[in-house]
Amino acid sequence: MAVCRQGDGFIEFSMSEDESNETTAEAIGHVPVLTEEVEAILLENSPGTIVDCTLGRGGHAERLLSVAPALKLVGLDFDEGNLDFARRRLAPFSDRIELRLADFSTLGAELASLKIDRVDAILADLGISSNQIADPLRGLSFDSDGPLDMRLDRRLRTTAADLVNGLSEGEISDMLWHNAEERQSRKIAKRLCAARRQGRINSTMLLARLVSAAVGVNPESHRNKIHPATRTFMALRMAVNTELESLKSLLNQAPELLGPRGRIAIISFHSGEDRLVKENFRSAAKSGDYRILTKKPMTSGEAERAANPRSRSAKLRAAEKAANA
Ligand SMILES: C[S@@+](CC[C@H](N)C(=O)[O-])C[C@H]1O[C@@H](n2cnc3c(N)ncnc32)[C@H](O)[C@@H]1O
Repeated sequence: MAVCRQGDGFIEFSMSEDESNETTAEAIGHVPVLTEEVEAILLENSPGTIVDCTLGRGGHAERLLSVAPALKLVGLDFDEGNLDFARRRLAPFSDRIELRLADFSTLGAELASLKIDRVDAILADLGISSNQIADPLRGLSFDSDGPLDMRLDRRLRTTAADLVNGLSEGEISDMLWHNAEERQSRKIAKRLCAARRQGRINSTMLLARLVSAAVGVNPESHRNKIHPATRTFMALRMAVNTELESLKSLLNQAPELLGPRGRIAIISFHSGEDRLVKENFRSAAKSGDYRILTKKPMTSGEAERAANPRSRSAKLRAAEKAANA
C-alpha cells in the first residue's frame, strides 16, 4: 500500500501495488483478437449502445470506448474475477458503462432490468481468456496440475470431475464427439470408466494421463503437435459451462434485441460454434431479419497470428439487422 503525506496527516492510497500495475500486458493476461475488424464492423453505423457479451479482461470494450467517445457499453461476464478486473480497467469510462455478472443467455432479461429495449450492436468473443487457462485452480489446462473443476461461472454446481466420474460411458463418449468432434471418443470414455473404478478422477494431470494412455500417444513425444487431451478438455469445459446452449440462446434473442440496422459480431474458436453462428445468420437472412456482412468468416492476418498465436483459430462472423425489421 502506497502512503503519501498531506498537511499534518497521512493519506493512504487505496490502490495496492498489484492494482497499480494492472495495465501491464502480464497483469491483463489476455490479448484480444481481431480488434480492428471488430471496430470496423461494429462502429461503422455509429452505434449509440453496444453490448459486449463476453467482457473478459475488457480489451475489446476499452478499444471501442476509446475510439467512439459517445458510445455507451453494457458489459456482461459470468466470471466474477474477469468482471472485476474489467471494471477497474474501464474506470475511466465509468459514466458510459453498465457492467453485470451474468450469463449472456440471459441478455434479454439483463437489458430489460436496465430498461433498454434495443441496442445498436452486440459483440460476443466466445470461449475463455488466456488468464483463465493459465490459472491452475480453474482446472482448464493439462499444462499444470489442478482440481478438475472448469467452472468459469462459480455459481454453477456441476464440475468437470462430476461429469467424468458421474456420466455413463456412452454419455461421456457422446459429449466428447458432440462438443469437440473427438474421434477417439469411445476409447477415451472406456478408459475413463475403467480408471474411475479404482478411485475418483479428480485432477487435470490424471485426466490428461488417462486420455493419453487411451489413445496410445505419449504427449512428451509430441511437443510440437496438439496434446492428445486437448479435445477432451475442450468438450468437458463446454459441457460444464453449457457453452453451446448459451450461444444458441444468445443467437435466438439477438434479432429481437437489435434496433434497425443494428449489428452483431461473433468470434468463435472451433467449428461447432462457428457452424451454429453461420446457420443462425443464414436462416435470419432468409427470413429477412438480417443481411450477412461476412460471406466468409474474417480471420487474423499474418502479423496478428505471429504476435498472438491464439488468434489463429478465431473466426469472426457478422450480420446487420434489416432497417425495417
Ligand atoms: C475470450 S474471453 C473475452 C475477452 C475479451 N473480449 C477481452 O478483450 O478481454 C471470453 C470471456 O467470456 C466469458 N464468457 C464465456 N461464456 C460466457 C457466457 N455464456 N456468459 C457470460 N460470459 C461468458 C468468459 O468468462 C471470458 O471472460
